[in-house]
Amino acid sequence: MYVCICHDVKDTQIKTAMAQGVDTLESLQKTLSVGTCCGCCMPMVQDLLDEYHTKFVAVDAMAS
Ligand code: FES
Repeated sequence: MYVCICHDVKDTQIKTAMAQGVDTLESLQKTLSVGTCCGCCMPMVQDLLDEYHTKFVAVDAMAS
């Protein structure tokens, strides 16, 4: 599913980047350029980040 139409970025690309450590809004903007044109995709990018941090970072914190 396309998230950022301006830069032709799909949710799978964002999820892959987050899994590789690109897990902040700023780093996603630098790496994939999401949200750096019209900004319409920002709420969806933030939702993906929130989902990622809820699922994976919280689990990591509990494991350590
Ligand atoms: S849709 Fe992502 S910057 Fe425009």
